Amino acid sequence: MTVEANGSATNGHQEAFVDGSVAISANLPELVPGLLEKIAASGNAFVSKDPKARTELLDAARALVCATETPRETMIRVSWSQSTLYACIETGVDLGLFTALSEDDKPKTADSLAKAVGAEPKMLARILKHLCAMGLILETGPNEYRRTGFSMSLMSERYSDAYPCITDCITGGVMALPAHLKKNNYRNPSNGTDCGFQLGYRTTDHCFEFLKNHPVVAKQFNNHMSAYHQGRPSWMDDGFFDVPRLVQVDTGDDGALLVDMGGSVGHDLSEFRRKHPNAAGRLILQDLPHVLEQARTMNLHQSIEIMEHDFFTEQPVKGARAYYMHSVLHDWPDEKCVEILKNIVPAMTPGYSKILINENVIPETNAYWETTSLDIIMMADFASTERTAANWHALVEAAGLTVSKIWTVQRGVESLIECEIEC
Ligand SMILES: C[S@@+](CC[C@H](N)C(=O)[O-])C[C@H]1O[C@@H](n2cnc3c(N)ncnc32)[C@H](O)[C@@H]1O
Repeated sequence: MTVEANGSATNGHQEAFVDGSVAISANLPELVPGLLEKIAASGNAFVSKDPKARTELLDAARALVCATETPRETMIRVSWSQSTLYACIETGVDLGLFTALSEDDKPKTADSLAKAVGAEPKMLARILKHLCAMGLILETGPNEYRRTGFSMSLMSERYSDAYPCITDCITGGVMALPAHLKKNNYRNPSNGTDCGFQLGYRTTDHCFEFLKNHPVVAKQFNNHMSAYHQGRPSWMDDGFFDVPRLVQVDTGDDGALLVDMGGSVGHDLSEFRRKHPNAAGRLILQDLPHVLEQARTMNLHQSIEIMEHDFFTEQPVKGARAYYMHSVLHDWPDEKCVEILKNIVPAMTPGYSKILINENVIPETNAYWETTSLDIIMMADFASTERTAANWHALVEAAGLTVSKIWTVQRGVESLIECEIEC
């Protein structure tokens, strides 16, 4: 792009006159007064420990930043600060910096941290300064820092693995998305072996095949899966789905209650067992062999059975009360999802068995940014998609099933789509 002396910009397609003052004035100043009122109200409710207030406060604060910052500041925030922050966190994770910083509540100097992790003090001081400037650790004096909840969470691999994992199997595809879309005349990607992922990681493998061939990244991916739903609404809790109606049935001596397909290392079944310890019937964890190898090291509750199963083949567990899939169908384009669903149908007992799909349902308006981020990741790395209620109905019906109800509590995040076969 070239910018002329009068401010007009040319990028080969278009010429636009940009008044220089636009770039250095607030984006949406008219929204600021209303947002300040919302922040005051939700802020007071948060301080008074209203459980819903925290996310409302965060939403309003985020909207305030976007409305108040200038386009120039947005440009710098997005294009400089996100990638550099990520690089600093990933380096810190690799060094064990967050563990060294967080082992107790005492402030620590950059020099002492450098000694503890075996890095050059001059380099580490720069990383620490950026982490602090971005609000992730606390400054207590010149080159001296203290831990935060964020740094403490990174003492656990379950959280820290997100950073190397996303670099090694997600971001490459996302960064390659613009080039992939351009090459394909801006069509919606629909082939999981020819999308941003293959371009970004210079491979012909589907992302899940790639993970199978890269065990370190696969383990980090499974840890990330086990952590990323935490704190979001769960269908297993009161006030979401009707769990008693699901579990108060006679499953018979050998009958299965829940079959968790693509259940990773078993975190959902573990949560279910913890929250519903007396529910009768088998709990069966299914996934690919290399994933279940990790699950076997996780000390799962003795009532959870581990069973290798590729969901592109017929479901071997017959007549279960529910076949459950969490964040599975969003990995696949529609025709692959229909195959997965059709492979369950022969195992279902009409009038008794259900398919429970735990996924985001994108609302018509006011979609949540975590959902839309994930949608773009799905587009880039899997040629797949997050779906609206209409998309879910169409998909489920294409497999010969019906949606009996979509259970949801918060902007469609983590909804439960209850499906049955016609009797
Ligand atoms: C996005 S993860 C979701 C994991 C878990 N359900 C959760 O919500 O955290 C998708 C899972 O599908 C599994 N998977 C991929 N292809 C599969 C296949 N053909 N058969 C069975 N599982 C598969 C992956 O190994 C992975 O554990």
